[in-house]
Amino acid sequence: MRLRRIPGTREKILQYTPWLVTEPTAWQGRWQDYIAGRLGSQQAEPMEIHLELGTGRGRFINEMARDCSDHFWIGAELREEVLLNALELAKKGETPNLAFLWINVEQTVDIFGVGEVDGIYLNFSDPWPKARHAKRRLTHRRFLERYRRYLKVGGKIRFKTDNEDLFRFSLEEFEANGFALQEVTFDLHNDPALSSMELSARVMTEYERRFSRRGMPIYRCEAVLCSRD
Ligand SMILES: C[S@@+](CC[C@H](N)C(=O)[O-])C[C@H]1O[C@@H](n2cnc3c(N)ncnc32)[C@H](O)[C@@H]1O
Repeated sequence: MRLRRIPGTREKILQYTPWLVTEPTAWQGRWQDYIAGRLGSQQAEPMEIHLELGTGRGRFINEMARDCSDHFWIGAELREEVLLNALELAKKGETPNLAFLWINVEQTVDIFGVGEVDGIYLNFSDPWPKARHAKRRLTHRRFLERYRRYLKVGGKIRFKTDNEDLFRFSLEEFEANGFALQEVTFDLHNDPALSSMELSARVMTEYERRFSRRGMPIYRCEAVLCSRD
């Protein structure tokens, strides 16, 4: 995905408070305080925190936040051009239970405390097909080690992709790094169980729409964190 850098985007993005969290490391271990501050008196109980890494233009997370309003949703994205679109959607929908981080996924260990996150979503992560770039894949063990720190035990990574090689690589990485696989499908949209799967399996991302319209199979699995060690 190559996008032209639009002049002024950086300045524009910084104006999207409260949806953009400008100092996310300040909330490490205290995200429930952040949520209470955002939602005020509406929110007395702790909320589950669900995190999409590489949220892109934010179609999926905006829809999930609207339809699962009992959870708090956080989207992380590196590229300001696409993040701007996600922020605009959140502002338009006036979605209260949603925030975005303008960060590299590498930084997430300094942003979330141990076991602070209930669910992670990796949707159509860049495949980095060359073997010498394997370490950049967001399902490489280098990243799984990070997720294991801040995902609660029993929490899930939900992973969707159009790339079979990345999918097979990821299944192996999950299993070799303390995650148990479930709901593994090699053709999500033609899977007879789709209608009974959880909402996040059925809500389509921007890339998912694009690839499934071309008739390409979508691969999906859930990886449950068995223990932190
Ligand atoms: C192929 S797009 C998928 C976007 C969206 N999840 C979807 O399914 O439509 C991958 C996104 O992940 C972002 N991304 C890739 N590596 C990242 C990283 N290390 N940190 C943050 N974002 C990243 C890219 O900028 C891009 O927006």
